[in-house]
Amino acid sequence: MISPNVCAISTVRRSPLSRWTTIRVGGPADEMVFPRTTEEVAALVASRADRGLAWRALGRGSNLLVEDAGVRGTVIHTGELTGLRFGDGGTVTAGAGIATSVLLAEAMRRRLGGLECLVGYPATVGGAVRMNAGGRWGETGARVESVVVVDAVGEVRTLTAADCRFAYRRSALAGTVVTEATFRLPEVDVPAYRSRIREILREKAAAQPLREASAGCVFKNPAGASAGRLVDECGLKGRSRGGAAVSEIHGNFVVNRGGATCDDVLRLVDDVRREVERRAGVVLETEVEVWRNHVPGAA
Ligand code: EPU
Repeated sequence: MISPNVCAISTVRRSPLSRWTTIRVGGPADEMVFPRTTEEVAALVASRADRGLAWRALGRGSNLLVEDAGVRGTVIHTGELTGLRFGDGGTVTAGAGIATSVLLAEAMRRRLGGLECLVGYPATVGGAVRMNAGGRWGETGARVESVVVVDAVGEVRTLTAADCRFAYRRSALAGTVVTEATFRLPEVDVPAYRSRIREILREKAAAQPLREASAGCVFKNPAGASAGRLVDECGLKGRSRGGAAVSEIHGNFVVNRGGATCDDVLRLVDDVRREVERRAGVVLETEVEVWRNHVPGAA
């Protein structure tokens, strides 16, 4: 392998992560780097791992809360991993940094569908695969054929969908950087597929606060129940802490009304969890990922 020049990779220092997350809270990372290839990611991770330095991977930051104090070490931003190649038999290989909306639109131009699960999320391919993003309209993992990752020591690995062990908002990809994913998509009737996508968008826009700054759903749905409905039934919509509030539209979203801190959001999440446990007897588990300083290494 030709060793990439790590020094040539674009780097920003002390940039507040509030700029890089959809809920717009979070302090700075020591440095944020923007590798363009899997090899550059591997070189970055290997150099951090060798020295025992902390690093984390960041996509669109749409399911993420970052502490106000920020995080030490390196944030590997996947936004420059933007390759997109269509192959035979409905396959497409997308760089981790490709927006899921772009993947969906480009696939549709080639009469390929099956990505209903991605409608309405401001996500990247890497984040959607790593979190197995989805909901009522399916899950990302169901369309994945293989994934290229850089593991915790900087080795490049190609994993099958089975290796990824996709589960509810989880996969075995934690602690790696997803650099690209290959999907196998079914051929579709484009007009019917397009109207289905529009319908899902309409439904989501009516039921979720898509126009407000949020980190998507905060809690996982407990078995057989909807976390949003539970929060709603406990009368907690509109409850606030500082600039953070439980959405009036959907009980499972916390929105940043302007000027919220991560601390506001975390305290509000705790309030809601405690209140739902007290009133409904259900302990809600968070879905959203939280970056805290005391967790070293890959996140
Ligand atoms: N409901 C209420 N009040 C609320 C919210 C919901 O009564 O404040 C009711 C709804 O009317 C519906 C039921 O609860 O009858 C379920 O709600 P919804 O259809 O919105 O689905 P959900 O279970 O709350 C899940 C995913 C969403 C995904 C939607 C649609 C989880 C935790 N949530 O929400 O995913 O968009 O289905 O597929 O899996 C996310 O992952 O960030 C996310 C938002």
